[in-house]
Amino acid sequence: MGAVAIAAIIAVTVAVTTSASGDDRTGTTTEGSTATEASGSSKTGTALILGAMQDCFMEDSVSSTGKNGTLRVEGTASVIDVINEIRQERGCLFDVVVRSEDDHPRHHISFASTHGLPPFAHTLGKLGLPIMCRDFQGRASCCPTYWVEGPESQNCDRVLCPDSSNMTEDARERVLASPACELCLDDINNRCFSTRQQMWPDHCVQNEESGIPPSLYTTDGDIVLKRGDNPYVDAYSAFADNTNRIPTPLHAILEQLEIHTLYLVGVATDFGILYTATHARNRGYNVVVVLDATRHINDASYEAAIQQMEEEGSTVVYAKDVLAMECPDGAN
Ligand SMILES: *[C@@H]1O[C@H](CO)[C@@H](O)[C@H](O)[C@H]1NC(C)=O
Ligand SMILES: *[C@@H]1O[C@H](CO)[C@@H](O)[C@H](O)[C@H]1NC(C)=O
Repeated sequence: MGAVAIAAIIAVTVAVTTSASGDDRTGTTTEGSTATEASGSSKTGTALILGAMQDCFMEDSVSSTGKNGTLRVEGTASVIDVINEIRQERGCLFDVVVRSEDDHPRHHISFASTHGLPPFAHTLGKLGLPIMCRDFQGRASCCPTYWVEGPESQNCDRVLCPDSSNMTEDARERVLASPACELCLDDINNRCFSTRQQMWPDHCVQNEESGIPPSLYTTDGDIVLKRGDNPYVDAYSAFADNTNRIPTPLHAILEQLEIHTLYLVGVATDFGILYTATHARNRGYNVVVVLDATRHINDASYEAAIQQMEEEGSTVVYAKDVLAMECPDGAN
């Protein structure tokens, strides 16, 4: 790999192109289509991917504001030390470090408040909010099924429905402006697909909570990858939005750097790390999850996430395993 090319790439802060209004999307990577490319190639590079190590997920003792993050994850104060140790003791193992960060507009589809619901409504027995999604001309969007098929279509005793009486006017406008609310109305060709959306507290709102924990070890060479700016689609993974329709630039960047192995650390094991691992396996990467360098949101989904990642061929290791590895020849 050319040193100049790497320098050019790592000098930039990458803004992810999942915005519904952005025209600068980078390609049409679809699930599985590139799975064989990386695995059969001579790529040997290794990347460390930090998931969402930013104020909005941090405990108060480590955030830059001294406040709990808006989507505080238990144990984030202690995970910083683990991640720092890996970087400081075994930085030699990684050709590049990517910090993937949530970055949501107001009234984002993943915010419970957008739908007039209490935060974590998906944990109250009805699972996530049913939504319908579609990729149209390279722009993914989703709409709550309630608004597509009408309130009569939903048995709200059994599935989670928006509380329309409790939605602000701004939020209502935002939800109904989603292209999917139109596009999925008469979906004769079944181009829309159904999924569920977890209902989070308002979190990582753009320009409101953009700090990172001061004690987190970073360097100017880190690639900062912001994701989740499409108001109509959530994005847990560093590679693509949750519909896996609109890629972030990450795959292209890693290909250019000839990266084949990814070490995943950070939060949350059961969401961002899981989705990133799945998308990375789809794209042919060798994936290593450093389990005690991650923290999770929910105990039940944590166990399920580990099982799924292992089934998909990701390897689970611990920080001590990484610290015991030798630096590659020529590195220090
Ligand atoms: C942060 O959250 C924890 C757990 O809920 C709580 O004990 C603590 O008091 C909170 N800190 C602040 C500054 O509000
Ligand atoms: C109304 O919405 C707010 C969020 O905007 C939420 O905190 C509250 O719990 C909701 N009220 C009810 C009755 O669901």
